[in-house]
Amino acid sequence: MKRLVIYLVTFLPFVYLSTRLFIFENVNDPIKYIYTITGVTATVILFFSIIISLIKEKINLMKYRKEVGLIGFFYSFLHLLNFVIFDASFDLVFILEQTLEKPFIYLGMIAFFILLFMAITSTKLLFKKYNKYHRFVYLSLILITIHWIMAQKSLNIEQIIYIIMILIIVYYKLYQYILRNNRLNI
Ligand code: HEM
Repeated sequence: MKRLVIYLVTFLPFVYLSTRLFIFENVNDPIKYIYTITGVTATVILFFSIIISLIKEKINLMKYRKEVGLIGFFYSFLHLLNFVIFDASFDLVFILEQTLEKPFIYLGMIAFFILLFMAITSTKLLFKKYNKYHRFVYLSLILITIHWIMAQKSLNIEQIIYIIMILIIVYYKLYQYILRNNRLNI
């Protein structure tokens, strides 16, 4: 039941996006609109997948973490498809130029490849072997935040709140890591 609720809620942005684009056809700049909906949804879902790990001692939702992460990856994949298909019209030279020349694009690309690696290694078998690298999700979160800010060129109140939350998470993880290391060294 909870799983069904997760799927229904997380697919709402996709339904909303498709309805506006293909049924009502009332979007002025479809490419920009797809970037916004897919980018923001991917970021928010990824953020929740990290929160699930952080609160596991208090509320255990760990069995849903993988699905939530994969749905977040699905939106980031749509975001990349928007770039490759609609923005670049499959022009490989344009894609390479943009990726190498614009820092916010290559930061997005690095973040995407971290998410891709995590999605591929999320199967039971591969997760055992590669789970230690899954902590790179924190790096991906930081890169996505910078990518978002650079894409906007200015900060609004939602972004400031979001950045403060990211900083708290990153400091908390760093603090836990230092504590664990100190304990091991005693
Ligand atoms: C795969 C490589 C990526 C490319 C080529 C890319 C490209 C872009 C572009 C061109 C924009 C600017 C759109 C505009 O305002 O005109 C943008 C915005 C954005 N991207 Fe990405 N991106 C990538 C990866 C990611 C990833 C992995 C995430 C999150 C998981 C993400 C989240 C966002 C967000 C939140 C925005 C701002 C949307 C808005 O508020 O309008 N991007 N991206």
